[in-house]
Amino acid sequence: MQKLIIKGKKELSGTISVSGSKNATLPILAASLLAKNIKLTNVPVVKDIITMLELLRFIGVDSKLENKKKSILLKNNQKKINTLAPYKLVKTMRAGVLVLGPLLTKYKKAKVSLPGGCAIGTRPVDLHLLALKKLGAKIRIKDGYIFAEAKRGLKGTKIKFPSISVGATENALLAASYAKGKTTLINCALEPEVKELMLFLKKLGINIKTSGRKIIVEGKKFVNNKVKHKIISDRIEAGTYLIAGAIAGKKIILNQVDPHFLKYEINILKKMGVKISTKKNSILILKSTNLKKINISTKPYPGFPTDLQAQLMVLMTQAKGISTIKENIFENRFMHVPELKRMGAKIEIKNRTAYIFGPAKLTGAEVMATDLRASVCLVLAGLISDKRTIINRIYHLDRGYEFLENKLKKCRAKIHRIK
Ligand code: EPZ
Repeated sequence: MQKLIIKGKKELSGTISVSGSKNATLPILAASLLAKNIKLTNVPVVKDIITMLELLRFIGVDSKLENKKKSILLKNNQKKINTLAPYKLVKTMRAGVLVLGPLLTKYKKAKVSLPGGCAIGTRPVDLHLLALKKLGAKIRIKDGYIFAEAKRGLKGTKIKFPSISVGATENALLAASYAKGKTTLINCALEPEVKELMLFLKKLGINIKTSGRKIIVEGKKFVNNKVKHKIISDRIEAGTYLIAGAIAGKKIILNQVDPHFLKYEINILKKMGVKISTKKNSILILKSTNLKKINISTKPYPGFPTDLQAQLMVLMTQAKGISTIKENIFENRFMHVPELKRMGAKIEIKNRTAYIFGPAKLTGAEVMATDLRASVCLVLAGLISDKRTIINRIYHLDRGYEFLENKLKKCRAKIHRIK
C-alpha cells in the first residue's frame, strides 16, 4: 500500500496553483444525464471524479477525460440508459447518489445503491428521498438499494428541508430541473458548489431564482443540449494550502483562486495572527509567528466549513492558549485527533468540541489516514514535525487532492510517496 513520507521543519516558499473544485464538479457530472453534449474545463483529475465518470459510463454516458487540458467531454446520446447505480461504485464515493434525481426525473425510474455510512458519520440520505417523494416519486428501500419510480414524471411542488444538506439540495435541484412546473425549495444549502450547479443548470436553459435560502426552479423538458462550463476553483484545497502557508511557509502565493469564497476563513486566520493579503485571483501568505488561540464552530456556508476543520486544528496546535472547534455538521469528524496526539498534539474532546492546547511541539510518527481531510491534516502536521512522518492509507488523499506532493515539493517541502 502506498505511503507518504515527510521530512518536516522545512520552510515553504513558492507558488501553488489551485485546482478546480471536486465538490462542484461531481453534481455537474450528475447533471450531464439531463443534456446531450457537455464540455467541462478546469476539472480536477482526482479519484472521485474518475469514479463518477465510471458510474456515468455504467449508466450510458460516454466521457473523454483529457488529463493535460483538465477537460471532460460528456456525450449522452444513448436512447437506452441503464437506470442503475450499483453498490460497488456508490460505496466508494457517496456523491454517486446524486444520479438519483436526474435519472428519476428524466427516465422516470432509478435503482441506486444506498451509500451507507463512512468514517465521518452515518450520513443518511433521508432528506434526498424526502424531496423526491414530494416531487411525486414512489420510493422503497430493498436489499440496500433505493428503488424510485415516477411513472408520469415528477411534478413541481414546495419542499421545505428540515435541516440544511448540500447533497439533498443538489439532488432536489437536479430533479426539479426536469420536473413539470415550478418547484420551491426552502432551507437550502448555499455552498459555492451548489451555486455552481445552479449556474450550470441555467446554462442548460433552466430558470432558477434564489432569495436567501429559498430556490425557485422552473422545470423544463427540452434543455440546451450543448453546454460548455469552467469549474470554479476548489476553496477547500485553497484553504488547506493557506493553512500550510500559515504553519510552515516563509512566503506562499496561491493563484487561480477566488478569495471571495474564502472570506470567512481568511478572517479567522487573520484573527489568529496570520499575515495574508488578497488580490482578485491570488492570495499571499507570509511567515506568521505568535499565533493566537481562537474558537470556531463548523456551520453551513457562509460559516466555517467542516471540510477545513481538521487542517485548522493543526494550526491551532501552534497557537498560544486553548483553541476550540465545535463540529456541528458530522458526528464523528475528529478521527484525526488520536493521530495528531500521537505526534505530540495536546487535544481533548468533550461531546462535539475539541480543545486544542498550544503551542505544542510536534514530532514525526507513523500515522494512519482515515478520510480525505483527516489525511491532509496529517500532511500539514508532518510539515512542521521534527523527524520523519509516515502517512499510511493515502488513497483517501488521492480522492480529492490533485498533485498534492508536487504542489508542496514546488514549495520546497520534503515529501515523497513510496509505492
Ligand atoms: C457535502 O457532503 C460534501 N461532499 C462534503 O465534503 C462536505 O463535508 C459536506 O457537504 C458538508 O459541507 C460533496 O459535496 C461531494 P450534507 P454531503 O448533506 O452533501 C446530514 C469532502 O471532504 N444529512 O450537507 O453528503 C448529514 O449526515 C466531503 O470533500 C442528513 O441527516 O453533506 C450531515 O450531518 C466530505 N440526511 C449534514 O446533514 C440527509 O439526507 C450535512 O450533510 C443528508 C444529510
